[in-house]
Amino acid sequence: MSVNKDIKRVTTHVLQEMKSRGERITMLTAYDFSMARILDEAGVDILLVGDSASNVMAGHETTLPITLDQMIYHGASVVRAVRRALIVVDLPFGSYQGNSRTALDSTIRIMKEAGAHAVKLEGGAEVQESIKRILSAGVPVMGHLGLTPQSIYKFGTYTVRAKEEAEAQKLLEDAELLQELGCFAIVLEKIPAKLAKKVAEKLWIPVIGIGAGGGVDGQVLVTHDMLGITKDFQPRFLRRYLDLFDAIKGAVNQYIEDVRSRDFPSSKEQY
Ligand code: KIV
Repeated sequence: MSVNKDIKRVTTHVLQEMKSRGERITMLTAYDFSMARILDEAGVDILLVGDSASNVMAGHETTLPITLDQMIYHGASVVRAVRRALIVVDLPFGSYQGNSRTALDSTIRIMKEAGAHAVKLEGGAEVQESIKRILSAGVPVMGHLGLTPQSIYKFGTYTVRAKEEAEAQKLLEDAELLQELGCFAIVLEKIPAKLAKKVAEKLWIPVIGIGAGGGVDGQVLVTHDMLGITKDFQPRFLRRYLDLFDAIKGAVNQYIEDVRSRDFPSSKEQY
């Protein structure tokens, strides 16, 4: 398996070089110490402490309820585990929209209290003042366009975005604006592959896709989805590499059986 061991620590500069060389970038979500340690040892380039923690870790229906304090808790847990990957923490809903001072305050808390390397936020032109202010404090910003789950009540559904010409054009303009403002990378979520490829070819910063086809510079998935820990979520773009839900359930069933039958602990498993 090819993990570039020469890279001691993935930085935004390293990611830029990877794009220039045409080397694909890997990104996965992480919310806790134990999982982050495995993902980092495997050689994932970017670990995203996503606000999808709201769904995956806390069981909420949307990403809206998760708080800044909770994101900092997850971020700090991941930071303690990681030696190589770049750690990006999502700014949660309500912590950056509308007021650039609030955006900067939220970011400073994430950088100081979690020890993150960068933040991610959703949106284009409408959040540009927040992006400028965060960047002016020297914090790298990752953009996020296309399906932006914090706006789910505006969209109404989780279906593919930017299929219509007007929305595709706005996305293209927003992507160029994010690059111009100084974002180091952009996530494109659930948009047509052709449009995502066009954006990746137009921009010199890395474009990471989720449900955005193979023509972008890297891929991101929610770790719990690709490992099959979550069960009911099965969008077309998701490749499941394991079925951990059933594997864990099977192991726990066996444990229950062993305890009940007094097979566990054996004489070797006691003092
Ligand atoms: O929160 C998250 O997991 C994300 C990814 C889907 C990109 O933003």
